[in-house]
Amino acid sequence: MTDPSESQQQIIDRTAEFVRSQMEGDSSGHDWWHVWRVWQNSLFISRSEHADRFVTELAALLHDIADWKFHDGDESAGPRAARLWLSEQDVNETVIEHVCNIVATVSFKGAGVDTPMESLEGKIVQDADRLEAIGAIGIARCFAFGGAKGSLLHDPEDPPELHASFEDYKKKSGPSINHFYEKLLLLKDRMNTETGFQLAKQRHKVLEDFLDQFHAEWNIASG
Ligand code: ADP
Ligand code: NI
Repeated sequence: MTDPSESQQQIIDRTAEFVRSQMEGDSSGHDWWHVWRVWQNSLFISRSEHADRFVTELAALLHDIADWKFHDGDESAGPRAARLWLSEQDVNETVIEHVCNIVATVSFKGAGVDTPMESLEGKIVQDADRLEAIGAIGIARCFAFGGAKGSLLHDPEDPPELHASFEDYKKKSGPSINHFYEKLLLLKDRMNTETGFQLAKQRHKVLEDFLDQFHAEWNIASG
């Protein structure tokens, strides 16, 4: 892992302040603390990888800066906002291009859609973000997102769908429980790094136990 220089550290600190000010009040699970945890998860995973820390930290901090989920499905809003910020910070074009490429490709895009990450730094940030979708925090975020978007908790008459394209995935507005089958339970086997995979295994089990209990409580009357 390459440590950032003093001037790079100042840019990281300024970026953290900027992102915090932009995302502080969000109630959909995409608030500053989500970004902070992705940042910390990325640093944790980087310890066993030979990654460029400056790129990893900037990409983790900026990964949800203008997420398509909150910009009418516009996937270019995130990389555009990241580029605008970084170009004001005296960051060189190679780093800007690398960070924006990670921001553009980090998101899950549907069960049937491959989302390969080209660089090691991208793989780390994607794993760090995916860990946030599973385990206890993943469960909390899923229902927070559903509440913010007006979704039902569960509807047994509305089954999950494994979306074959990003367009179909974008359009969905199903109950939050469906999201477990459409995304969350698929993440463990899509982790990029060994450290990410080991953490994902524990968090995956939390999802399975939660779903068993949820369905048992739901079905109490039908035995
Ligand atoms: P990604 O970029 O991979 O989508 P995010 O950090 O933006 O990752 O977080 C996405 C999180 O938002 C999901 O893990 C989930 O908790 C929540 N979410 C997204 N879509 C839905 C949905 N349709 N129903 C419930 N939760 C959702
Ligand atoms: Ni995220």
